[in-house]
Amino acid sequence: MQVFEIALLPGDGVGPEVIREARKVLLAVGKRYSRRFAFTEGLIGGAAIDAAGTPLPEDTLEICRKSGAVLLGAVGGAKWDGLPGDERPEAGLLGIRKALQVFANLRPVRVFPALVGASTLKRHVVEGVDLVVVRELTGGVYFGQPRGRFARDGGIKALDTMVYTRFEVERVARVAFGLASRRRRRVTSVDKANVLESSRLWREVVTEVGNEYPDVELNHMYVDNCAMQLIRDPRQFDVVLTENMFGDILSDEAAMLAGSLGMLPSASLGHGRTALCEPVHGSAPDIAGKNIANPLATVLSAAMLLRYSLGLDEESRAVEEAVMRVLEKGYRTADIFMEGTTLVGTAEMGDLLVEEILRGA
Ligand code: IPM
Ligand code: MG
Repeated sequence: MQVFEIALLPGDGVGPEVIREARKVLLAVGKRYSRRFAFTEGLIGGAAIDAAGTPLPEDTLEICRKSGAVLLGAVGGAKWDGLPGDERPEAGLLGIRKALQVFANLRPVRVFPALVGASTLKRHVVEGVDLVVVRELTGGVYFGQPRGRFARDGGIKALDTMVYTRFEVERVARVAFGLASRRRRRVTSVDKANVLESSRLWREVVTEVGNEYPDVELNHMYVDNCAMQLIRDPRQFDVVLTENMFGDILSDEAAMLAGSLGMLPSASLGHGRTALCEPVHGSAPDIAGKNIANPLATVLSAAMLLRYSLGLDEESRAVEEAVMRVLEKGYRTADIFMEGTTLVGTAEMGDLLVEEILRGA
């Protein structure tokens, strides 16, 4: 039987707890569909700093490169906040994205019918929202050189550089248009072309790539306007294509349409098959180890891993359907809890999903 290799990188904070549940769910999928998954764990972030002295050990990269797919929890925590930038847990995350060259980060925002009431926004605004943020992930101001701190005129200056090449914009734009052509055929490219040079190039290149996809409607939007439109009328969006930092900010905002950051999965794709799948949320140290974190973002990330890395579409849908059914039955973790629903912990939520998946066996 074919063995599907999956690298698990739990990381810090709630990372290990939510990865544990996703692993349980994947094993249930294996049982139901007679698939063999083999897991290898690797260190990343603060956990790796403590155990190996670096946020991204060579071993971890090796494990990821050998596996067909990578599922990551979260990194970071107060314990490591005093470290210099390139030694922080976050450097491990940025490093692995860069090393695996996963330049297109897909962050789907779907409002599950059962959770319409969980959003801070009005029901009629969020009902039926189904959009994907395609965030450029390996370029822009996150990686641009020069950067650093410099002494200047007896004072100090700090510098970051927002830089894009034509090549970088083109390849992520193709991912967005490809995706849109399989959805509602609408790309909104988000930039700040009224101010930034890098955004003017972005807009130019996206327009060119758009010409190759005549059946996909392209419109451009300034990032400040997009931030407003996302809460004014989110249903206007299908695929939102944007650069690294704008995507970071807008995807947190968009998460609240779905009720909680704890619901948002992501998959980062490169040219190879190896996707890096991770929840959009962070390590949430304040709730770590208490069995109250919402594992659904990670479970849904595992579903994306099944689809994008392993090509297991039916299995991926089974996970998404299990999530939907468990929500419809009224089970909620604390972040999405509402009057009249049943509060469950991290592990119980995982067990309920396993039960749903095996029910179809
Ligand atoms: C995200 C996170 C990361 C990012 C941090 C943890 C470095 O906010 O994945 O959205 O900014 O990319
Ligand atoms: Mg973020």
